[in-house]
Amino acid sequence: MLNIDNLSCGYGSAVVLHGLNLQVNASEVVALIGPNGAGKTSTLQCIAGHVRAQSGTVRFNGKDLAPLPPQKRVLEGIALSPEGRKLFGDMTVRENLVVGGYSRPREATARNIERVLDLFPRLGERFDSLGRTLSGGEQQMVAIGRALMAEPKLLLIDELSLGLMPKNVDICYQALQKLRGEGIAVLLVEQNLSKALAFSDRAYVLDSGRLVWSGTSEAARARRDLVESILGHAASADPAPASHEELTS
Ligand SMILES: Nc1ncnc2c1ncn2[C@@H]1O[C@H](COP(=O)(O)OP(=O)(O)OP(=O)(O)O)[C@@H](O)[C@H]1O
Ligand SMILES: [Mg+2]
Repeated sequence: MLNIDNLSCGYGSAVVLHGLNLQVNASEVVALIGPNGAGKTSTLQCIAGHVRAQSGTVRFNGKDLAPLPPQKRVLEGIALSPEGRKLFGDMTVRENLVVGGYSRPREATARNIERVLDLFPRLGERFDSLGRTLSGGEQQMVAIGRALMAEPKLLLIDELSLGLMPKNVDICYQALQKLRGEGIAVLLVEQNLSKALAFSDRAYVLDSGRLVWSGTSEAARARRDLVESILGHAASADPAPASHEELTS
């Protein structure tokens, strides 16, 4: 489905991703892990079209994405739930979701909102609340829901569980489990190594913009010492569970 070949990208003259090869197959959950600054977010932003590729190719169902701006990539079936959630703080949950469905016909909006509320019933209770009043977990649900409003075939999620209470981490993973059952592929960036490797089918490890390990998540779990040594101290300890979630203003 997604085929990344020898991809390099960066900002200005700085190259932060060097010759990445990565595939995501239909219905597959793939984890992209690595320490801070490894290039995980840059990779997702490059797939989504927000960061330009300097060399290499990104193909989706055989089509070269290079000429396509971000909104056309959404139409192809790629949606991003970005790092930090990036909700519109002065818009309600409903309005944030509607924004995510801009690429779909208007008639699809109500049906897709229903689908998001089925997945995250909590959002039904917060439907008319402003984005900035939501807890971190609720915000993450909206961010994933907003991406789903575009009816993606591939969902890119940047930092699923960072800063969330364990209960909300579980809710988000249960939602991903349902999406996987519907055949949606997921490329998942996670700081939580245990969760990422337990849930994904395959994993790629980036360090300083280079791919340093890839394989099945089962192999990574069996060789967790290897993966941790690759990641270094940055990921050798899973982040402590958040006792309370951040509210953004
Ligand atoms: N907008 C930007 N302009 C310039 N450099 C950037 C920009 N965004 C990221 N970088 C640099 O690119 C490199 C990779 O950053 P990126 O955010 O992709 O890493 P990451 O793996 O997502 O890290 P983290 O775990 O902290 O989210 C880093 O050296 C970072 O400083
Ligand atoms: Mg990042």
